[in-house]
Amino acid sequence: MGSASTSSARAVFGMSQVASTYPRHVAIIMDGNGRWAKKRRLPRALGHKAGGDAVKRVVEACEVLGIECLTLYAFSSENWKREAEEISDLMNLMRRFIEANIADFIAKGLRLRIIGDYKAFDPDIVERLEDALERTAGGKRTLVVALNYGAQQEIVRAAALAAAEGEVTASAIEKHLYTADLPPLDLLIRTSGEVRLSNFLLWQSAYAEMLFTDVLWPDFGQAELRAACEEFATRERRYGGR
Ligand code: IPE
Ligand code: IPE
Ligand code: MG
Repeated sequence: MGSASTSSARAVFGMSQVASTYPRHVAIIMDGNGRWAKKRRLPRALGHKAGGDAVKRVVEACEVLGIECLTLYAFSSENWKREAEEISDLMNLMRRFIEANIADFIAKGLRLRIIGDYKAFDPDIVERLEDALERTAGGKRTLVVALNYGAQQEIVRAAALAAAEGEVTASAIEKHLYTADLPPLDLLIRTSGEVRLSNFLLWQSAYAEMLFTDVLWPDFGQAELRAACEEFATRERRYGGR
């Protein structure tokens, strides 16, 4: 058995069904909404809507499984290449998602964080997001949403900030990543059978365990997340040692 994380936070959750070898920080590339809809001859927008329902389920599953930090890739800096109609569907979904879930997040003690250049979104979305950030600031567990996010841009930005301070080292760069104050990434999951990172958390993945599943994102739920955590618990993390 490897040194998969043990966490004092685990004691806070105090749940017998939570194994101490479960990851503290899980990130998910939520892929396959379009194919899920296509399989059902539904419009892509309904695939994204079903994807939103999966987000809700997985956020709840994290509470049950004692996962301290969940990072979700919701919109990449390359997703602007999609048709205007799909982008607008995604933006409307985001508006509704914030509205429908924020009270629940506050009640659950879930702190929202955003990584990526979300200020490029429409002003009303920026306002809703910032309101949600403020209202959830006291939460103990963290939901990180990657919005207009690209890992290469994140690294360039961090390196430039480090250079401005006169020190371009790995630790100086790390200090300026969006994720600087979050637990290290333990497990990265991608749904829908694609085996690539698509510009997500490139730096943070250096020693993350990875899991690729054929399940389409709208079909992903507590059972799949638990299975992923069980798989993680069997991994031996060596970090270059032996
Ligand atoms: C992921 O589903 C959601 C976003 C990228 C916003 P996709 O829309 O990429 O679904 P597929 O890959 O076409 O099935
Ligand atoms: C990655 O999925 C981005 C998100 C899940 C938000 P994509 O569907 O955009 O990735 P590619 O285009 O297949 O690499
Ligand atoms: Mg996709």
